[in-house]
Amino acid sequence: GLVNTKDLFAKAVKGGYAIPAYNFNNMEQMQAIIQACVETKSPVILQVSSGARKYANKNLLKNMARGAVEYAHELGFDIPIVLHLDHGDSFELCKDCIETGFSSVMIDGSSLSYDENVALTKKVCEFAHSQKDYVTVEGELGVLAGVEDDVAAEESHYTKPEEVQDFVGKTKVDSLAISIGTSHGRQKFKPEQCTRNAEGILIPPPLAFEVLAEIEKKLPGFPIVLHGSSSVPIVYVKEIEKYGGKLTDSVGIPEEQLRKAAKSAVCKINIDSDGRLAMTAAIRKVFTEKPDEFDPRKYLGPARDELKKLYAHKNTDVLGSAGQA
Ligand code: G3H
Ligand code: 13P
Ligand code: NA
Ligand code: ZN
Repeated sequence: GLVNTKDLFAKAVKGGYAIPAYNFNNMEQMQAIIQACVETKSPVILQVSSGARKYANKNLLKNMARGAVEYAHELGFDIPIVLHLDHGDSFELCKDCIETGFSSVMIDGSSLSYDENVALTKKVCEFAHSQKDYVTVEGELGVLAGVEDDVAAEESHYTKPEEVQDFVGKTKVDSLAISIGTSHGRQKFKPEQCTRNAEGILIPPPLAFEVLAEIEKKLPGFPIVLHGSSSVPIVYVKEIEKYGGKLTDSVGIPEEQLRKAAKSAVCKINIDSDGRLAMTAAIRKVFTEKPDEFDPRKYLGPARDELKKLYAHKNTDVLGSAGQA
């Protein structure tokens, strides 16, 4: 069956790697994630956002995740699979997911005041931890920036290391998402925050590893989570633009920095945008090269294959989760 994150994170922190947390909204994404994780023998966190719940229906998503356990077995290797709510924004949403059968939830109170965040996160933890099968909870401190976010989150506010002990102690969260310079989407920094290389490609500023080090000092061995960890591969951006797309000023987190983060107490790395880029590039290619094609399997199939390739690469060459299942 589905598992929570408890043992996976304990092992990952000790082993110096990170578990992939991949978002899914449909069957092809789920298949690609499971194929990649079975092939690389990696544990995996299947993430569902509230947008995904609305798009695909919570019961269908839950049954797909349960089906994923059998699917992995059928592919020849049982891997630990977590079904996790991504960015829960209320107690009611978390409770509903827990009652639906999710094995893990995130309560994202990072936009609230510190005291409100503590109170809400504590309430979710009390409910989640009292279930017959302990449901793990991820909290968040600090605000991620993002070009596409609302004005309130325009400016990133790094996690304050002096708050983390108090927050974890009061709420009893099982893991903590932090802000050290990552952000959601394909434009993680404004062009004026970056430099450009000879080909005009944006080079982002480095993550705040000194803040991460301070947090690790305050919470030795405690599981840390990084959101907004897509690398926005330039090959996909170029491929999409070659086939008619337009993705101006795309910039992500270089894989080298994620590799470094995965070796620390960061034990969950969230990736969604890179998968969107991979699928879009593959679909645009089919549409351009085979204008007479109209069977969805003929473009969703190649998109699924590209996604699988990408996630196998992440597990093997970036997160270090390959071989850890
Ligand atoms: O953190 C956001 C994830 O990438 C999910 O995105 O809310 O569009 O489903 P979404
Ligand atoms: P990206 O947009 O960088 O893929 O981040 C995904 C994420 O943090 C989901 O919670
Ligand atoms: Na790690
Ligand atoms: Zn996120």
